[in-house]
Amino acid sequence: MDKLFLQDVLEGLSSQPKTLKSKYFYDDKGSQIFQQIMQLDSYYLTNCEFEIFQDQAAGIINKLNFNEPFNLIELGAGDGVKTSELIRYMLSKNIEFTYTPIDISSKANQILEDKLRADFPTLDIQPRTGDYFKILKELNNTNKPALLLFIGSNLGNYMPEGAQNLVALLSKYLKTNDKLLIGVDLKKNPLIVSKAYFDPEGVTKAFNINLLNRINNELGGNFNLDKFDFYSFYNPQNGEVRSYIISLEKQKVNIGSTHEFKFEKGEDIWTELSKKYDLSELDKLIEREKFELVHHFLDSRSYFTDSLYIKK
Ligand code: AVI
Repeated sequence: MDKLFLQDVLEGLSSQPKTLKSKYFYDDKGSQIFQQIMQLDSYYLTNCEFEIFQDQAAGIINKLNFNEPFNLIELGAGDGVKTSELIRYMLSKNIEFTYTPIDISSKANQILEDKLRADFPTLDIQPRTGDYFKILKELNNTNKPALLLFIGSNLGNYMPEGAQNLVALLSKYLKTNDKLLIGVDLKKNPLIVSKAYFDPEGVTKAFNINLLNRINNELGGNFNLDKFDFYSFYNPQNGEVRSYIISLEKQKVNIGSTHEFKFEKGEDIWTELSKKYDLSELDKLIEREKFELVHHFLDSRSYFTDSLYIKK
């Protein structure tokens, strides 16, 4: 049993209001549901970022201004579909680089490596499995310049203080003149944002409810999944989408034989923050940590940015 998972769940369900951490969404089933979310028409984020990589690869590479072989490092590369656009462009221009995807799952790295080796036989790919920051620290010991990719709007899943701390750590492990390309979802018509997280197909609901199923399977919980629903709310004033699991009745849930949690009818468990930024807010956050903006690469609808910063 994963002790940290248990500890976080017990702590979250004991707090008032109750919470569960979204990082636990991603068991095998949850990762599969997330793939389905990314296929939804309403979940515009993936297509927007893909468009940026597809149409603006040359612009991104030109702005790097690297005159020697460099390291392309990616945190949590996933299926690599977006990064493949950058890789394809660089290989076509005979640009010398090593691709180093970092993931906590060796299985995810292996699948990505097999796929990219098949698609790009000449690619120098050196995946690393483990803790992001430990590996970044090791990679920092070379003289090779680095472009660090942190895409997919993952920054949006961090609370403000967590996001600041994360960028501070990225900064700590980059050298002067290294670059950071960070993909972030932007504020826009609230109806468009709302629909991305409260999809009519109910896939995001399944993504959230799967966390209860995971607790049942891995921690000996007895959540009755039919007695919980899903709600998500976008606040355009602070750019926060907050997602919740809602108890449909007054009920008790056990986790293992020693923990019991009471739920009121209509009570919520906060599961996820998906924050939308505006460009100046993003610049402020990143530039506080010894970075300087190089360029914001936006999609054609200005829904999403991949913003390039240089480490000072
Ligand atoms: C992974 N992360 C950026 C997604 C997001 O948009 O916050 C996770 C997600 N949650 C619901 N839909 C997608």
